[in-house]
Amino acid sequence: MKRTLGVCYYPEHWPEEQWAEDAARMADLGLTWVRIGEFAWKRMEPVEGQYDWGWLDRAIETLGAAGLQVVLGTPTATPPAWVVAKHPDMLPVDVEGRVRGYGSRRHYCFSHQGYLEECRRIVTQMAKRYGRNPAVAAWQTDNEYSCHDTVLSYSDAARAGFRDWLRGQFPGAGNDGDIDALNAAWGNVFWSMDYDDFDQIGLPNLTVTEVNPAHAHAFRRFSSDQVVAFNRAQVDIIRAHSEAPIAHNYMGRVTDFDHFAVGADLDIASWDSYPLGFLEDRSGASEDHIRAYARQGDPDFQAFHHDLYRAVGRGRWWVMEQQPGPVNWAPYNPSPLPGMVRLWTWEAFAHGAEAVCYFRWRQAPFAQEQMHAGLLRPDSAEAEAFGEAAEVMAELAEAPEVSVSQAPVALMFDYDADAAWAVQPHGAGLSYFGLVFDWYRACRKLGLSVDILPASARDFEGYQLVLVPGMMHMPDDLKTALHGAAGQVIVGPRSAARDAHFCIPTPLPPAWPGSDLAVSRVQSIRPDMPVSLEGGGHVVGYLEQIEGGGDVLLHSADGAPVAVRCGPRVTYMAGWGDDSAHMRLIEALVPDLEVAHMPEGVRRRAAGDVMFWFNYTTQDIEIEGETLPSSGVLRHPL
Ligand code: GAL
Repeated sequence: MKRTLGVCYYPEHWPEEQWAEDAARMADLGLTWVRIGEFAWKRMEPVEGQYDWGWLDRAIETLGAAGLQVVLGTPTATPPAWVVAKHPDMLPVDVEGRVRGYGSRRHYCFSHQGYLEECRRIVTQMAKRYGRNPAVAAWQTDNEYSCHDTVLSYSDAARAGFRDWLRGQFPGAGNDGDIDALNAAWGNVFWSMDYDDFDQIGLPNLTVTEVNPAHAHAFRRFSSDQVVAFNRAQVDIIRAHSEAPIAHNYMGRVTDFDHFAVGADLDIASWDSYPLGFLEDRSGASEDHIRAYARQGDPDFQAFHHDLYRAVGRGRWWVMEQQPGPVNWAPYNPSPLPGMVRLWTWEAFAHGAEAVCYFRWRQAPFAQEQMHAGLLRPDSAEAEAFGEAAEVMAELAEAPEVSVSQAPVALMFDYDADAAWAVQPHGAGLSYFGLVFDWYRACRKLGLSVDILPASARDFEGYQLVLVPGMMHMPDDLKTALHGAAGQVIVGPRSAARDAHFCIPTPLPPAWPGSDLAVSRVQSIRPDMPVSLEGGGHVVGYLEQIEGGGDVLLHSADGAPVAVRCGPRVTYMAGWGDDSAHMRLIEALVPDLEVAHMPEGVRRRAAGDVMFWFNYTTQDIEIEGETLPSSGVLRHPL
């Protein structure tokens, strides 16, 4: 498939006289896509019920006339002041019970039915007006669900919605749920927490000490379902008026809702990739690592999300926003090294992105993002990234095709497990995302390409290795499917550790088919007290004591089993390993994998009959007889 470039543009930020020249420059650069509209509600509907579409008609017309294809965003991430004045209780409430005020963006609670109606109205108007416009080639719903921690809201609307949702989870006679079933499933006999009625159930915040983890986890599941419903309301309206594909732009390391569930209603998954900002503000990496990659980004973070969103989009995915230079929002905001914008773009293509769109066309001299670079400076001169985008364009003109092939390794990602770990990390800093990402990095350090699979996957054909770490609730049919997989499977730690309502099942986990393996005790470990493994590597953070099972593949220096067989091709890993423990286990279990130990900061990805190599370091490196330049890319025939 041919890969394309695009840009995010805000016509409402610039005088109308400038649009035609902007459009001509975009077309000249070779861009295909322009995303517009996603924050412009106040310009579309200045006063309730009074629409002003003239400017947007002309903007779309101008861009279309230049040969560009518009991605039209619905503006529901930025309800104007008049919407909030009409529905003051639509504002989200934080975990401390404070109302989050108007004056920036994403100031809405997903559960507020009045706000949902306002969204339906504006989206209906847009879809009717632009649904058949030939220049509108795709849609984006809202903008970055969950950005600024906006999925969990502790509002009155959320409380009412949560009670109804729970009634649906524990159905009883008539419209009322079965409260006894909820009490039993959650173990509410503990601390006399049994409820008499669903209307007694509160939100899991502001309690004296921790709430029942079953309660907290249920609230996260409910909140995720609210995002799915909110998105679906828009999708249903757009589809009634338009045949153009619909996307949403997801984020990096945001796990507060089930992206696979939202993605099931959409045609394209996309995400917003800010490698330097993410390294600084959410990678969880050591200071040394952040210093080493401050101007390049983490060598695996982007790739992980590319693979994740390829799965969420069922093969169709984009980068909707690509960092072009320094951003404004991280603790430190360095400039990317020369070459990195090109490298990030090619890395996305190598992982199968259909399009990469830069954020944004021109740096805005006003408001919150005035310190955020664009392809152009505020004075319209070219910024550094413009040249790199032009370089990619020239390369695409020569060789636009990139194929996607099945990877040898599959790694499952389960948003529900992430929520479970967030509710009960058991040790400071432990997270499901962190565990899965560590496995991903170990694979990449071995030069392996990885496919990410949703928790609903049951077909593992073609994979030499399937990794399912940390999936706290594992349905029986998944165990059966994994047990029958033709490749090697690694599960654990904490896989199958809880039932569907957050209780420890008996027989004790993992209760693997045909195995007597049992986790008899668990401990979390201080970061400065790693447990050494015999033969190299460590367990860090989390370690289980296990009984039973078959052959021991890894054991601790003091002789305790850490990785054991629990099926002919299934291995249980009873701890959170470091890179070298994970790499050792992979190499020992699957000797047929074509591994190659990557030089520090170098990664590769197979795409059809070529291998892409990426150099995140500041030194040139020799690869297969060729020079892989610092901050550079190499495309090598396989
Ligand atoms: C994204 C967001 C954009 C812009 C950008 C700045 O999270 O979708 O609207 O704020 O960050 O880096």
